[in-house]
Amino acid sequence: MNACIRAVVRSAAYHNVEVIGIKRGYQGMIENDMAKLDMSDVANIIQYGGTMLKTARSKDFMTAEGRKKAYDHLVKHDIEGLVCIGGNGTYTGAGIFYEEYGIPSIGAPGTIDNDLYGTDYTIGFDTAVNTALDAIDRIRDTADSHNRVFFIEVMGRDSGFIALHAGIAGGAEGILVPEVMSDFDALIKHFDNQSRRKKHFSIIVVAEGEKDGNAFEISKKFQARYDNYDVRVSVLGHIQRGGKPSANDRILASTLGNAAVENLLAGKLNVCVGVVNHEVKLTSFSDAINHKKSIDQTLWNLSKILSH
Ligand code: F6P
Repeated sequence: MNACIRAVVRSAAYHNVEVIGIKRGYQGMIENDMAKLDMSDVANIIQYGGTMLKTARSKDFMTAEGRKKAYDHLVKHDIEGLVCIGGNGTYTGAGIFYEEYGIPSIGAPGTIDNDLYGTDYTIGFDTAVNTALDAIDRIRDTADSHNRVFFIEVMGRDSGFIALHAGIAGGAEGILVPEVMSDFDALIKHFDNQSRRKKHFSIIVVAEGEKDGNAFEISKKFQARYDNYDVRVSVLGHIQRGGKPSANDRILASTLGNAAVENLLAGKLNVCVGVVNHEVKLTSFSDAINHKKSIDQTLWNLSKILSH
């Protein structure tokens, strides 16, 4: 997100437009927690994870009273448009705010989950996948040395993008994602299959939102069926949400931050920027919110072939 903020500030400065940085998203608008950002304020941040502006899930912005306060503060600071980095909740808030107060917004997709419609990738996803992958590679050493089956749970709330990508890149024998039903049955079928190459260890990647249960529940069901395997669980958790952003993430965030500014200045509003097939695309907030992005079927099929 820092790379995106930097791109917004530098692109706006290029067009002689002033930027005010709002702290903790909508909550900072309500609490008048905002200050001018110039190019020196965003120097030396591109290499850091997280966001220099901090973030919050603002309950107050869901109330009419909260939004009124937010509007009054924007007027006070002569703010004429917003660049909102976030996901569906952020886009929904921006859309309602426009309807009520006419403040134009452009959204930029920021979530490690990659579950936003209107872009092939979201800011943070690539770094999260690489972090998960690094952990999987490390866990593999123990799995191999101790002859264990590891169930590794990755983030993704209700979606399996991180699991699928990290699973393929990490050579997982099984990948369980919420978008595909009966993953566990398929896993059992695979382990029951007599022609399965007898491996002494195994890596199974489980998305946290998997319908068959979390990694602990799935591992228990697995162990109940196969008492000959030494089973372990590792939940990667919030390590996936921080750290040095990958080059791909920095380039994506820079591209989208710039695109947000250019399009806002061109009069576009109530849309989010994204990159689809290597090109910047605009998607209306309502389309982004109302469409569910599906996982890549080709990658899913690939994962099945490579782990059979
Ligand atoms: O949406 C991003 C995400 O990291 C999800 O993958 C995860 O389920 C959730 O946020 C964790 O949220 P919190 O930090 O509030 O526990």
